[in-house]
Amino acid sequence: MIRMSNIVKKYVMGDEEIYALDHVSFRVKPGEFVAITGPSGSGKSTLMNIIGCLDIAQEGEYFLNGQPVESYDQRQLARIRNQNIGFIFQGYNLLPKLNALENVELPLVYQNIRAGERRRRAMEALEQVGLKGRIRHRPQEMSGGQQQRCAIARALAQHPSLILADEPTGNLDQKTGQEILTLFSHLHAQGNTVILITHDTSVAARAQRQIHIEDGKIDEKEGNG
Ligand SMILES: Nc1ncnc2c1ncn2[C@@H]1O[C@H](COP(=O)(O)OP(=O)(O)O)[C@@H](O)[C@H]1O
Ligand SMILES: [Mg+2]
Repeated sequence: MIRMSNIVKKYVMGDEEIYALDHVSFRVKPGEFVAITGPSGSGKSTLMNIIGCLDIAQEGEYFLNGQPVESYDQRQLARIRNQNIGFIFQGYNLLPKLNALENVELPLVYQNIRAGERRRRAMEALEQVGLKGRIRHRPQEMSGGQQQRCAIARALAQHPSLILADEPTGNLDQKTGQEILTLFSHLHAQGNTVILITHDTSVAARAQRQIHIEDGKIDEKEGNG
């Protein structure tokens, strides 16, 4: 699924070079539930951008589903992203004027999937996250937990090979956050590959495996999930 070897991303600030990622290597197999954890400034967002094909590394190799990502141009990267990756963000990133169903369907419009199939997939995904009773609600008419469920449905409806979540419980209270993490565990049990990025060690412990990053370098430890 994912194979990274010696990935380097550095930023030049004046005459100083900051290694945001310093020769990072790891693998994720299909169907795994992995947490990437580390303190603020450790390189998590930089790594997520590279995993998600939003950015490319300066050195090293990244294979996503056997495809060498660093050889692609911006247009090809956009296509790889749409076909492979379901993004989930801390702030949900739903469009405020669209209802839940329309938000979930929108990425499928860009994929040129016909209307009937779009509707079928969106309804299926909304049912999977327990939002079937809220399909006509706009984001501001839903709780934070419901908005995050809607964002997860939007990711699922694309049938991604990888679900990539950046601090998905960061804006939620403890109990709602736990419900969202339980949903990720269910999605994992159904065969989805999930990568969860978080600074919160109790959130990370819900994954099968943890990859810890600090000062742009990684080390691995086992989780209890
Ligand atoms: N655009 C940028 N320009 C310069 N330095 C950056 C940039 N983005 C990130 N960094 C630096 O790279 C390091 C890793 O940042 P980041 O990946 O955002 O960490 P995290 O998400 O774990 O908080 C930090 O030292 C940060 O200051
Ligand atoms: Mg970050």
